[in-house]
This record gives sequence, C-alpha cells and structure tokens, in this order.
Amino acid sequence: MSDKATLEYNGNKYDFPVIKGTEDELAIDIKSLRTETGMITIDPGYKNTGSCESAITFLDGEKGILRYRGYSIEELAEKADFLEVAYLLIFGELPNETQLSKFHSDIKAQSLVDEDMRKIVDAFPKSAHPMGVIASLTSALTAFNPSSVNVTSEEDMYKAIVKILGKFPVLVAWTFRKKNGLPLDYGDKNLGYVENILKMMFKQPNEEYKTNPIVLNALDKLLILHADHEQNCSTSTVRIAGSSHVGLFASLSTGISALWGPLHGGANQAVLEMLEGINADGGDSKKYMAKAKDKDDPFRLMGFGHRVYKNFDPRAKIIKKAADEVLGDLGIKDPILEIAQILEKEALLDQYFVDRKLYPNVDFYSGIIYRALGIPTDMFTVMFALGRLPGWIAQWREMRLNGEPIGRPRQVYMGETSRPFVPVEKR
Ligand code: SDX
Repeated sequence: MSDKATLEYNGNKYDFPVIKGTEDELAIDIKSLRTETGMITIDPGYKNTGSCESAITFLDGEKGILRYRGYSIEELAEKADFLEVAYLLIFGELPNETQLSKFHSDIKAQSLVDEDMRKIVDAFPKSAHPMGVIASLTSALTAFNPSSVNVTSEEDMYKAIVKILGKFPVLVAWTFRKKNGLPLDYGDKNLGYVENILKMMFKQPNEEYKTNPIVLNALDKLLILHADHEQNCSTSTVRIAGSSHVGLFASLSTGISALWGPLHGGANQAVLEMLEGINADGGDSKKYMAKAKDKDDPFRLMGFGHRVYKNFDPRAKIIKKAADEVLGDLGIKDPILEIAQILEKEALLDQYFVDRKLYPNVDFYSGIIYRALGIPTDMFTVMFALGRLPGWIAQWREMRLNGEPIGRPRQVYMGETSRPFVPVEKR
C-alpha cells in the first residue's frame, strides 16, 4: 500500500504523505497543502476531515464498534465502574486498587464548592434550563480556583482534573435541587463516586437516604456509556477552545454549551418530548414516521441517525437492554418505552431509514432510564455532560500534552470583491 497520495491540478502533481492508524484507518496528511498548492480543502461539518491523532477512543461507524483505550464498551459497561473508566480515559490504563483509591480520595478532597458559588446558583430563575446553569457554574469555578486556569505541567493538570471531577457532580446536584426548591447538599464522602451523586441529588431533608442498587447500577452504566466518543461536536469544541490555552474549566464550559444542542446531547431530552408528544397524540407512530420522512416537515425522529454510526450505535443496544431491565426491576410500566420500541421496529424496516442507514443512537433509549430513575427531562442532557466529563478532560489533556497548535480553520471567501465607500447621502 502506497505511503503517499498524489494530487494533480492544472498540470502539476503534488505528493502528500498517507498516515495509517493502529486500526488501519488511513489519512492524507495535508499539513503542507496550502504552501505547496496555494489551495485549501473545504468540508462543512468536517465529515471527511480529521482534526487530530488520538489514542483515547476508537469507533468504527460501519461495524458499530466502540472502544475506550482498547477496551470494548460492552466489557466496560458490564465489568467496570464509572470512576475506573474515567481514570482509564484520562490516564490511558485501568487503575490498580491503590491508584483507584488515591484517585478517589484526591477527588473527594476537592468535593467542596466555595459557599459564594451558592449566590450564583441562587441568582438563576427556577425556569432556567439546567444546561445553561451548569455551563455558567463550570466557567464560574475558574473565579474560585484561579490556580486551575492556565495549567501547563502534568502535576497542575492533575490538580485541575481532580478538582473538576470533585466539584462538577456537586454543581449538577445543586442545579437540580435548586430548581426543585430543595436545600443544597454535599452528600457523603464515605460513599462511592456515583452513589454520592445520587445521594446529593435525591436526598430528602427529612428522611434517611437509602441507595437503590438497581438505580445505582443503571446510572453507573449510563455514565460509562456516555464517557467519550472521539471527536464529536462537544469534544471538538473543548479541544479547539483548549487549544488557545484557556483553562480546563472554561474549555469544559464550551463543551457543555455545544452538547446542549438538540442535534447532539440535547437529543435525549428531545427524544422524550417527542415520545410524550406521540403518546399524547394517540400513539400514532406511523403519522410521525411520515413526518420524519417529509422534506417539507422540520420534524426529525430524534434519537435516530448519527454522523458516524451507519449501523446500530453499540451504546443504544446496551441502553435498550438496560431500559427493559431497570423498568422491570423497578416494576415500572412506561407506555413511552412501548412507543419507542414500535418506532424502532418500524424505522428499521422503512426504506427511507434503511437507505440513509439511520439507526437508534445513544440518545434514543437513555431518557427512558433517566425518567425511571426519577430524573426530570430537562436534566437529561446534564446527566449526559456528567458522563462525558472524563472524556472531555482526557481529550483536552491529550491535546495540551501533545502541544497541538491553536485551532484556526481557513475559509473560502464568497462575498463582495473590493469596492469604494459610498457616503450615506449617496446610497
Ligand atoms: C449524539 O458525533 C457523536 O459522536 C455524537 C454522540 C456522542 O456520543 O457524542 O454520539 C451523541 O449527538 C448522538 C446524535 C443525537 N442527535 C439526534 O438524535 C438528532 C436526530 N439525528 C439527526 O439530526 C442526525 O442524524 C444527526 C445530526 C445525528 C447526524 O446528521 P448528519 O450526519 O449531518 O446527517 P444528515 O443530517 O446529513 O442526514 C442524512 C440524511 C438526510 O436526508 P437526505 O437529505 O439525504 O434526504 O438522513 C436524514 C437527513 O434528512 N436524517 C433524518 C434523521 N437523521 C438524518 N431524517 C429523519 N430523522 C432523523 N433523525
């Protein structure tokens, strides 16, 4: 196989190196394209453009494969816990017991938030969308942790990482509790990482909190499944923001905002709202399938389709199975789940969806579990962010340790060519 690609244009030939990844993916290295040819490439949405070489997550969209640092998502969801997976993504190896326990205690040591942050939480109206609140609070953390702003050494990065892993779950819980008029809580540092998240979110002030193992296991699995997904929209946002050497917290805040969009992480909320709408409209799935296929109708079947997966999203398969188990174990009969299953069955047989390789993605079933766990719809994407946090951190850290240049794409200008100014009285 050749290690170069040749571009021929206007009678000239230009050779560019071809690089091959450890999973045999091939890329044309065009770092010298503009210098050699005076031309650039253009690729809206970067559907064919690699932004970096990364060693964190591998996915094969055609085969429906997803691995974190070489471990399959199926094995990790089954055998690991979320904190182990966070360590794996960020540092590259599964931790041994000593490493995991030190990681957890370093995080717990950073799990308090400056009391003045409560004033910012209090300033938001109850109607504020939790994603807007958590994006703001994450950026505000910079003000209370100035040493975590521009970190360059691995040691400083580690300190900033355990800080955000300690404080972000508190801010998630505070965002949820504030909206529900509950006192802000710190949970219990003697609990596991995810167990404490549940307690911080759901402990009622007038009763003992008892962890439900089914709920704990389901949330731990959901967070693992959301933990990273290579160069998706929000991760690319974190990487490009971080490439200006703005701090970790500010970079993460940009990723939270990008994730909020209904085409990305906001889809899990949009799926539930869509399913509830179909249910309220008599459960007529065929009507909504027709709307999804109608080019003149802006309606899309939320939770379906994916930029990279042209096969089942492996996470959707695991989540669908978990949804069945959790609802069964909790004794919940949810008509929304039935509507989702009917829509999936119909879409998988429908030519429009088959031709476009549109399959259920990670967001299609996740909301059904979040709802069963007592998490309100407008918090679904915040839970996605909670899961994706270690992935964003890992990608940001890799970008900084690799010394990547500031991200600054080019453009093809299509506007007016040079023209003289016209005074207002003559326009
Ligand atoms: C996530 O990138 C990641 O890795 C993201 C993520 C992660 O973990 O970080 O996996 C998380 O964001 C999952 C995706 C969640 N979004 C949704 O569920 C929203 C609904 N899906 C889409 O809007 C869409 O499928 C995207 C945005 C996910 C992907 O869009 P693309 O790759 O830009 O594809 P496209 O919009 O060009 O669609 C191709 C065709 C079009 O039809 P034609 O113009 O070819 O006739 O498929 C159609 C689209 O209209 N299409 C849909 C559809 N999704 C695509 N038609 C109906 N319903 C849909 N959901």
